[in-house]
Amino acid sequence: MEKLVLGIDVGTSGCKIIAVDEAGRIKNSVREEYPCYTPREGWSEQDPQDWWDGVKRGLKEMRNITGDAEICAVGFSGQMHGMVALDEHEQVVRRAILWNDQRTEKQCTQITQAAGGLDSLLQITNNRMLTGYTAGKILWMKENEPENYKKTKYIINPKDYIRYRLSGKILTDVSDASGTGLFNVKKRCWAEELMQKIGISPDLFPEVVESTDKAGTVTPEAAKETGLPAGTVLCGGGGDAVISTAGLGLVKSGRIGITLGTSGVAAMGLQECIQNPNGMLQVFCGNSAGAYSAMGVTLAAAGAYQWFRNSLGDAESMRAKELGCSAFRLLDEEAASAHPCADGLVFLPYLMGERAPINDPNAKGAFLGITSTHKKGDFARAVMEGVAFSLRQVYELIQGVNTNRSSGEIVLAGGGACSPVWRQIFADTFGLPVRTVYGSAEGGAFGAALVAGVTAEFWHSLEDTVKLICTETQTEPIAAHVPLYQSQYEKYVKFYEALKWSF
Ligand code: XUL
Repeated sequence: MEKLVLGIDVGTSGCKIIAVDEAGRIKNSVREEYPCYTPREGWSEQDPQDWWDGVKRGLKEMRNITGDAEICAVGFSGQMHGMVALDEHEQVVRRAILWNDQRTEKQCTQITQAAGGLDSLLQITNNRMLTGYTAGKILWMKENEPENYKKTKYIINPKDYIRYRLSGKILTDVSDASGTGLFNVKKRCWAEELMQKIGISPDLFPEVVESTDKAGTVTPEAAKETGLPAGTVLCGGGGDAVISTAGLGLVKSGRIGITLGTSGVAAMGLQECIQNPNGMLQVFCGNSAGAYSAMGVTLAAAGAYQWFRNSLGDAESMRAKELGCSAFRLLDEEAASAHPCADGLVFLPYLMGERAPINDPNAKGAFLGITSTHKKGDFARAVMEGVAFSLRQVYELIQGVNTNRSSGEIVLAGGGACSPVWRQIFADTFGLPVRTVYGSAEGGAFGAALVAGVTAEFWHSLEDTVKLICTETQTEPIAAHVPLYQSQYEKYVKFYEALKWSF
């Protein structure tokens, strides 16, 4: 009988489930979408029940495809920092507040002060308190929804909710726990002293496991609902930004990968914990024991391109329906026919505020340098370029702490990496070859499946899976474009400084 592992990624625009065999090949992939709510500007919420309904539909579909293959383990990846509050009956208390929600600026300042200032906070968690992190959301609920806070018995992350529905076990893993802002990443345990300082009970937080640990099995009830056999082993899994990097084979190497999902993540695997430079990066536990990840996040990456399609791409969406293709493909064609650097048009991608290297929840998006000759293709291209510039800034920050500077290339992943024009823009912006690798378009789901494969003993360790990951495309920088992108990048960097007063 064929043996498979599954990787489930609980993303923001939808969930993805993939099946991977013992040779590390992706056999099947299914995707289900669900809504995201923006009750106010800067707020972002989802209903955990929608995640579960999506995962149930996906698992049933997957079971129909894989037939009687043996599912040896299931791994999880998920959008990080989402506050999922459960009551004493393990029912959801309110909609989850997501990673790109910006309502907690005040609470983040309070937490930093309660910790004794930024340096003391960094001593405890090695991370700055960012508005995306879970901690501020808990304090926000305490202040603004005291009834909900009183009811709350457990706080977990989005992927942990799915594990809970499958197994009845309330757990999280070290990488996702890091993203709460209440975790001592160096010691890989909850930062109880910080919780006490800010008046949050450590009892709210679940047991923490390593990503490849066994973490429950599918209950008979969940088996009926999903088609997964009762008793199927579940593993710890990880936060998407961390586990995607594992899926690229960058577990402990000092090489840097960039994932172009809704958010854009530049991340580097590390052998040991490093000091976070002034808290400008996110330094989180990695997916194998003793490993770490240093990363920075551009909040709107492929999300910015999606915004462009939704707001300004009606004509392309209609034509795509007629042609039976994706509107992104048509926008890509228009962007490809525009000149490099979009004839001077610059886009700042701060549609959801920004996290790195600019930590400014109030930052706004902007198009600058518009002239009467600019067409839609220039705007589409400028969006792609603005995202590449933002991720170059993050990359430079990470290079500042990279003692193993072997990486003369960028490994690009996520849905955005499927676009040849975007890959060329990255190569020209960085002046480096851009490589995509097997499984890279699957984002966190592939990393989750590899982690599950270690749990199922398909592979000895996560480091061992690196040999399964081969190159799929390589894009060289175009020499004549590199200096153009360099001067456009310099302009881009100055624009935020010039405009921030107005945000
Ligand atoms: C990571 C982060 C995002 C979300 C989106 O810190 O905020 O990558 O996890 O999925």
